[in-house]
Amino acid sequence: MASVTQTALWQELKKHALDIENQHMRDWFAKDNQRAERYTLNTCGMTLDFSKNLITQEILDNLLKLASQQQVAEKRQAMFGGETVNYTEQRSVLHTALRNFSGEPVLVDGKDVMPEVLATQEKIKSFVESIHSGSHKGFTGKAISDVVAIGIGGSFLGPKIMSEALKPYWKEGLNVHFVANVDGCHIHDVLSQLDAETTLIVMSSKSFGTQETLQNTLSAKAWFLSSEATQADIAKHFIAVSSNVKAATEFGIAEENIFPMWDWVGGRYSLWSAIGLPIALTLGYDNYYQLLQGAHEMDKHFVEAPLSENMPVIMAMLGVWYSNFLGAQSHVLLPYYHYLRGFPAYVQQLDMESNGKSVNESGDFVDYTTGPVIWGSEGTNGQHSFHQLIHQGQVLIPADFMLPLRVPNQDYTHHAMLASNCFGQTQALMQGKTFEECYADLSESTLSDSEKAVLAKHKTMPGNKPSNTILFEQLDPKTLGSLVALYEHKVFVQGVIWGVNSFDQWGVELGKVLGNAVLDELQDEQSEPDFDSSTNQLISRFKQSLSKA
Ligand code: F6P
Repeated sequence: MASVTQTALWQELKKHALDIENQHMRDWFAKDNQRAERYTLNTCGMTLDFSKNLITQEILDNLLKLASQQQVAEKRQAMFGGETVNYTEQRSVLHTALRNFSGEPVLVDGKDVMPEVLATQEKIKSFVESIHSGSHKGFTGKAISDVVAIGIGGSFLGPKIMSEALKPYWKEGLNVHFVANVDGCHIHDVLSQLDAETTLIVMSSKSFGTQETLQNTLSAKAWFLSSEATQADIAKHFIAVSSNVKAATEFGIAEENIFPMWDWVGGRYSLWSAIGLPIALTLGYDNYYQLLQGAHEMDKHFVEAPLSENMPVIMAMLGVWYSNFLGAQSHVLLPYYHYLRGFPAYVQQLDMESNGKSVNESGDFVDYTTGPVIWGSEGTNGQHSFHQLIHQGQVLIPADFMLPLRVPNQDYTHHAMLASNCFGQTQALMQGKTFEECYADLSESTLSDSEKAVLAKHKTMPGNKPSNTILFEQLDPKTLGSLVALYEHKVFVQGVIWGVNSFDQWGVELGKVLGNAVLDELQDEQSEPDFDSSTNQLISRFKQSLSKA
């Protein structure tokens, strides 16, 4: 099948990119005082102002035509309908079923999966209530005071970042700690401050084969058994979330303590499954349920809204415009809300592990850019760190700004300052500051005219730097659920445009295999490594340092 780059629409969009090279958003706003209103969408308690983007109506129309041409609506239906859209693993992709409150069945291989989804939600609910009520006792008869959630990737990022984002909603009396890295410092620092008799270990691993998670759980088990506890007490203090029940029971987790998940839920899409158990423990089940509800609201919007009024589709097609026609290689997320500071890291896995691909469904290498580098940090911190490059650097970096209009624990002055920085930054990125304006600012300076001209050049801000601004009333669990689902569906739409499989992750396998071979060498004092000279010398240096210890 011909590449999408061969289509007339793609060629048309390439022409548009040339047409706007000498145009400026500043002028578009000056000429059209309806621009902001026209390019703003509202849904699920969120407002997306996408007017500060390098688009004309003609460009936007053609981007939406491209979405239609690439069958976004049809592929959306296929995903929600349980078809095998993850074609390299022969799996459905149904994280949407985990928050399906429509009452409609969801069929996988002809079987309605909703009964087991709902049963697992009930299992989560009753377990969480048993911990919060204190009815679940540890081996000395005490209630649980601390939870250590062990997992990595999608088994860590969702639980940790969503819990962090909803700090104002935390349940009193229970401390939830998150451990991911196999660096022993992490698990040591967490466990060394806890008491085994009141600690619950939640081990989350969809595959139950991830080295870091298994090792961290083994260390937690050793720590637990170094207390007064016995093997028989494990059942009171260790639970697992996995789709690999066999491996979890073989590991020593009691079957009744295993919360199931399914192979049609990808790791980076799994916080809506029992992987979200630490979130429910942190917030209480009702708040966790609101998170699911919010995602469901966004699902409905994504399925029902026309492409031109569809928030995920608009954000996706803007990203395609920047990546494939204006040469952007990265996309920055700037949450202007301290509790949402982890959101860029969450979207990093969601986006980069989904669309960091180069081969299409036919097995051909694609001849265009696919997933961008996702990065970012909380505002206003970035303004004192990397915003300089976004304003005056040589690379185009589209930005997503996010701001809650109401926040807890803050006085008005702080919040007004936060908002003014957010809005001021998007304005500066859009309008910039011309050489003439910078030169005029120097009119009182004692510099010579030529020195003023040089300094004015350095101070010139090109502007024309694109940004989206997402506003929400407040970051409550429901809004957060909608926000996460918004990015999930944005990633999905982009994967459809690029013709890649957004739901496998073969690229992470080789490093694991090679890492295991190196580990064997590091753990064998006698053997001589037989890899490339660099790896050999690195192994030798590591072994030497150990022998000196
Ligand atoms: O190696 C990548 C990955 O498979 C991610 O996709 C996943 O979220 C993470 O590792 C953890 O996997 P698991 O939940 O199976 O331990």
